[in-house]
Order: sequence, then C-alpha cells, then structure tokens
Amino acid sequence: MKEVNLNTGGSSYRISTGRSIVFAENQFHDLLSKKDRVAVIVSSRILELYDSRIKGIFRSYNNCDFFPMKDGEENKNYKYAEKFLNDLLSGGYSRNSAIVGIGGGVTGDFAGFIASVYMRGISLIHVPTTLLAMVDSSIGGKVAVNISAGKNIVGSFYQPEMVLSDTDFIQTLPENEFKNGITEVLKHAIIGEEKLLTILEENNLKSLRESDNVEAIVYLSALFKAKVVEKDEKEGGLRAILNFGHTVGHAIESLLEYKTISHGEAVAIGLLVESEISERIGWLTEQEKRRVADLISKYDLIYNKYKVKTNDILEHMKYDKKNTAGKINFVLLKGLNNPVYNQNVDIDLLKDVLGNLIF
Ligand code: GLY
Repeated sequence: MKEVNLNTGGSSYRISTGRSIVFAENQFHDLLSKKDRVAVIVSSRILELYDSRIKGIFRSYNNCDFFPMKDGEENKNYKYAEKFLNDLLSGGYSRNSAIVGIGGGVTGDFAGFIASVYMRGISLIHVPTTLLAMVDSSIGGKVAVNISAGKNIVGSFYQPEMVLSDTDFIQTLPENEFKNGITEVLKHAIIGEEKLLTILEENNLKSLRESDNVEAIVYLSALFKAKVVEKDEKEGGLRAILNFGHTVGHAIESLLEYKTISHGEAVAIGLLVESEISERIGWLTEQEKRRVADLISKYDLIYNKYKVKTNDILEHMKYDKKNTAGKINFVLLKGLNNPVYNQNVDIDLLKDVLGNLIF
C-alpha cells in the first residue's frame, strides 16, 4: 500500500492506494467507530459483485445503512439528493454521522454532495472503484449534482476525511470504463507527470491492466493531482491545468446530452483538439502532438464514432462554467509538461481544428 497526504488550508487527509486495502482489517476503524450512524452509498454494480464482502466491512459499526445507486449521470440529480436528505433526517442521522461513497464518479460526486450539505457538513470517506474515480474524481474535493440546466451546477469543494483506492476493483471493471480512466491518466501524463507518460508509452491496453501497472498509475496520478490541489484547492488559478482537454470535452458531452458519449471519450477528443491547437500556434512540436495522438489511438480511447457539427460544439462551449467574462477558457501546452491556463483561441483556428479532427 502507498499513501499520498493531501493538505489543503482547512483539511488534511490520506489517499491510500494499492491492492486489497478496502477489505483489510481496521481501515475504517478510526473514522467510523465513534459515529452514531453510517450511510454507505454504493454503486449497484459494485454491490452486486461484492455484496457480502462490502457488507462484512461495515458489520462492526453502529447503525449502518446501505443505499445502492445506479451508475449514470441522470441519477446524480438534485431531486434525488433532496429525497435522500429527507430520508437521512427521518432515519435519525445527526451531525455525528458519516457518509461512505463506494463506486465511480457518479456515486462519489453524489455521496460527497450529500455529506457536504447535510447539517452543514458531515464526515465523508471515498472508496473509488473505477480507474477514473481513483485517478481523478475522488481526489480534490469537487462534489456536485446536476440540475436540468446543466451538469455539476450545484456543488462545492468539500474534502473527504479519507480516500481508499483499492486497485483490486479494476479487475472487474468493464474495458471501456478502464479506457475512460486511462484518458485522465494520459491528461496527467501530458500536463506534468512524465513517469506516467513513460508507463503509457511502454505498455499497451492489456499490459497496463496488470496489477503492478494499475497500482503505479493510480499512485502517480493521486500524487500529481494532490500536489496541484494543495497549491490551489478552489481553482483560483493553477488547478485549471487539470481542465486540459475539458473545454472541448465538456462541450461535446453536453451536446450529446451525456448519453451517447462517455466522459473519457469526450475528453480524449478534447486532448486531441487542444494539442492540435497548441501545435498550430507553434507551442507544441509536431512530434509532441503525435505522441499524444498515438497514445489515444494505441489505447483506443475514442472507441465509438460520433457525428457532431463544429457550430454545435462552439454553441455548447459558451455555457461552460469554466468561462469567465464571456470568454471561453482553454488550457494549452507550451510543450509537454508545460500547460498554460486561461488561454483564448482564435475562433477561425478553433473552427478549422474541430472541422478537421472530428468529421
Ligand atoms: N477534474 C478536475 C479537477 O478536479 O479539478
């Protein structure tokens, strides 16, 4: 097991990564033994696969309830959150209760949101079970639910008290979900963690899934992201580098209503587009851009075909919450490992790159 400590101004917690750590004795003891109730919000897929083992972990704690949650963005919504909060109140949950979220990004975001608002905030533990949640969404305290006007519009920064990333869960992760996580690993590799770039270049889809490699990419990503979040928890500046690929990615996801395309695929398209723009303005060499494109193709990160029109993507970019003063903000690369945030892109160049890459 390896540990990363994340210290923000207001909180400090450990992110443990490694094999078979969730089911090991005493992982939760210090945090949960004094709680009066524990709500375990758990992905239905994970509960089906690990039912008795998961319930076994919590057997010794007071008044533990299990709440299965279906995967899919549509379930992470404000209406369901309100119902859930009412159920916690009628179920006797207090300020001394805790929430544990076990699952992918949807479960983690929802569990985090509930913990952040219930009685002005109660204890939260994240147990991410997808690669994407382990390397990205469980780290750094972004929690949110969706409203009809948009994804993650209602939320906050709320740090958990512990993150346990047990890489054994990756063994039962569907292949496309694994690819979605690789996209965020690739993003970290491109914007600053060279060791990840080496691992991705030396492996392939099959070998990357071997335990040692999974452990390495989860640990290195957690370490990298924790360092960025420590410097800028609330995304006043530097943290925006983690949005590389996401200006285009979010617009495509929104255009396709979060249904037909996965977050990973949309961001992979975004990585291609934003690398291409960086090259066209002379910041990235042709060879560097090719390294990014080759990895996207080697790991098959865009695994379906999509028809999206340039003008529709541009329209959806206007509503991105990363925009400031009506300006669409991009992260661009001045070479690999050198991201620059808050960049504006000439509209004709943007149209040209989108047109060339996506149709
Ligand atoms: N996923 C980007 C961030 O957490 O800031």
